[in-house]
Amino acid sequence: MEIKACIFDLDGVIVDTAKYHFVAWREIARELGFEFTEEHNERLKGVSRMRSLEILLEVGGITLDQQTKERLAERKNKDYLSYILQMTPDEILPRAKDFLLELRQHNVKIALGSASKNAMVILNRLQIAHLFDAVIDGTKVTKAKPDPEIFLKGAEELHIPPENCVVFEDAEAGIEAAIAAKMKCVGIGSRKILGKANLVIPGFVDFSFQKLNELK
Ligand code: BG6
Ligand code: MG
Repeated sequence: MEIKACIFDLDGVIVDTAKYHFVAWREIARELGFEFTEEHNERLKGVSRMRSLEILLEVGGITLDQQTKERLAERKNKDYLSYILQMTPDEILPRAKDFLLELRQHNVKIALGSASKNAMVILNRLQIAHLFDAVIDGTKVTKAKPDPEIFLKGAEELHIPPENCVVFEDAEAGIEAAIAAKMKCVGIGSRKILGKANLVIPGFVDFSFQKLNELK
C-alpha cells in the first residue's frame, strides 16, 4: 500500500482545543445550576456541537426545548470563539507542523477532516491553513463520525483512493470512521481508547514519515 494522502483530525491531533471547549461548556452548565467536570468533558471529544450540548444536559439531568438548545449552543460558541481567536501558532502540538512539512516534502497530500465548524478559524490562527490541500470541516458534512463521510470526502477532494489514505485521530469515533472508510489509521493518545487503530502514538514527537511507512 502506497501512502499518497494523510487526513488529520484537528482538535486533539494538531491542537489542544478541548480545554477551551471545556471552559465554555462549564460556564453553560454553571448557569443551568450544575458542575461539569473535565471527566465529563472527555465524552465531548469528537462529538458535534449539538450532540455535545445534549450530553451536557444529560449530565445535568435537564431537558430543554429545541429553541433553547439552539440558543445555548450559539452562546457557547460565542464564548469558545473568544478563546480561539486569541490562539497563537505556538499552540500547535509538539512537532505536528514539522510532520506536515515532512509529508509535503514527500509529495503526500494533506487534508483536514474535523467535525468543527470553527476549523478554518483555528487553522488561520495557527498559520497552517496553507499546508492543507483540502479542508473538510463541520460545515461540509451531514453525518458525524463514526460515519466515514468526512474522510471519504477528504479523499475525494484530494483525488486519492481511500486505500492510499492514512487518518490521524484522537477519538474512538474517528478511528471507527477511518476503518469504515477503509483507510489505515494512526491513533493519537492512549492504546486503551484507540486500540482499533493500526498504530497508536502519544503524539508527533519521535514520529516521522519513515515510521509512517512501516504501516504498509
Ligand atoms: C470536534 C471536537 O473536533 O469538533 C468536539 O472534538 C466539538 O469537542 C466538535 O464539539 C464541534 O466543534 P465546533 O467548533 O463546531 O463547536
Ligand atoms: Mg479530535
